[in-house]
Amino acid sequence: MSIGVVALVVVVTTTVGGCFAVTYTGADISTVGKLDFTEELAIPPLATGTTEPDGTRVFELEMRQGRKEFQPGRLTNTWGFNGDYLGPTLRAHRGERVRVDIRNALPEASTVHWHGMRLPAAMDGGPHQMVRAGAEWSPRWTVAQPAATLWYHPHPHGATESHVRRGLAGMFILDDSESESLPLPHEYGVDDLPVIVQDVRFDGDELDGSHRIFRDTGFLGDRILVNGTLAPYREVGDELVRLRLLNASTARVYDFGFGDDRAFTLIGSDGGLLEFPVTADRQRLSPGERAEIVVRMRPGERTIVRANTLDAGLDFWNQRFSGGDDSFDVLELRASTTLRPSPELPAALASSSTPDGSDSVRERRFELSLAGINGRPMDMDRIDFSVTRGTAETWVVRNADGMPHNFHVHDVRFRALTVNDAPPPPELAGPKDTIFVPPNTTVRLAMSFDGPADPNAPYMYHCHLLWHEDQAMMGQFVVVEPGQSAGGPPHHGH
Ligand code: C2O
Ligand code: CU
Ligand code: CU
Repeated sequence: MSIGVVALVVVVTTTVGGCFAVTYTGADISTVGKLDFTEELAIPPLATGTTEPDGTRVFELEMRQGRKEFQPGRLTNTWGFNGDYLGPTLRAHRGERVRVDIRNALPEASTVHWHGMRLPAAMDGGPHQMVRAGAEWSPRWTVAQPAATLWYHPHPHGATESHVRRGLAGMFILDDSESESLPLPHEYGVDDLPVIVQDVRFDGDELDGSHRIFRDTGFLGDRILVNGTLAPYREVGDELVRLRLLNASTARVYDFGFGDDRAFTLIGSDGGLLEFPVTADRQRLSPGERAEIVVRMRPGERTIVRANTLDAGLDFWNQRFSGGDDSFDVLELRASTTLRPSPELPAALASSSTPDGSDSVRERRFELSLAGINGRPMDMDRIDFSVTRGTAETWVVRNADGMPHNFHVHDVRFRALTVNDAPPPPELAGPKDTIFVPPNTTVRLAMSFDGPADPNAPYMYHCHLLWHEDQAMMGQFVVVEPGQSAGGPPHHGH
């Protein structure tokens, strides 16, 4: 090699190496200890709807564009339901008939999906129930599942990440007589707080949605919004405070805890209350997952909800570029100098409502990969399989893809039977509809398809890292009556 070539090789390798080092060391973010908590936490308005003569509870949601002042004096373009950003918290009771009158005032088509809701597939708001710009859609169903913290968000095929990231999301709380009979904190916005967590990045007037280099996981932001509030604090006046944590971020996985590492009590997961409360000091939530926790406050103190670095067995590369090394201060709770006494938490919560796998009629395997589930990218015109109404199945979901994924199933709530052949940790013992599946992990999930059948309308299962979902890491199944087979290719739109 001539001196010139050697010099060139040296220059190229050090430049590439240098760029990599800068990219790598600049890729982790921490706001721990840096927030001043100047904004009071917004609480999404509670919508209880109106009641029709036949008892149907009716909600109204308008999807619209807006501008919101997240930072004093700076307006950011957003999307929201009935407002600039996010949407009202809908609330209904088990056994009630509900209808939601949706109007799409956005400049493009979208959908509204009821994440965690057991309902007819034609009402599910998945990619086959598109609502055109200017159009309306009024899904209706009967609430037939236990009390839980659910949520709603758009689900247009290929564009879910951008629609959710701009602000289209809201909580949907279900109550039942069991949950109402328990002495749990339950005054919305007082001792029972919605905590909708999203990571964002500001770019001029816009919420940035670009994916930085090596971010195979999708969009990762550098600031945290809770209920649309930056750097929020909330004053609380009760000894026990219930937080309904919802990870409404598009890709980020959080490991929540408190700044002082205090213990809290986990009482509910995605699909409703646990059978027994669990004491914990960490709660991991991947996109779409929820947890209801109760924290005990002492008079006059402050404590911070913190998202810690992730310990999920990710390799060196993924740990950094999937955000695993990031940490955030999320929300400061400020206790009044005198607190209203709260009743002790009950020793038992809800009866079990998910199958234990013993009555599963079949097992299906799902291999997670960015190239598609079981290697097949989502095809709107392909029904991947049919399940029989009234039966239970065990789904075995494996991630050997190197990068983090999770798995969400529409219509059902499932029980995690095993994680890598071991019994699940106590925080995964409750009813779930979304589960984090880190690399080199296999989970076995038992679920019962006890909702309505419709051979012509599919439900989705997918990775809830929304860019992965948009990349077609999704499939569809129909629920059919015994002996029935799936209908023709589904038709789209309204
Ligand atoms: Cu939260 Cu298929 O979605
Ligand atoms: Cu869903
Ligand atoms: Cu994924």
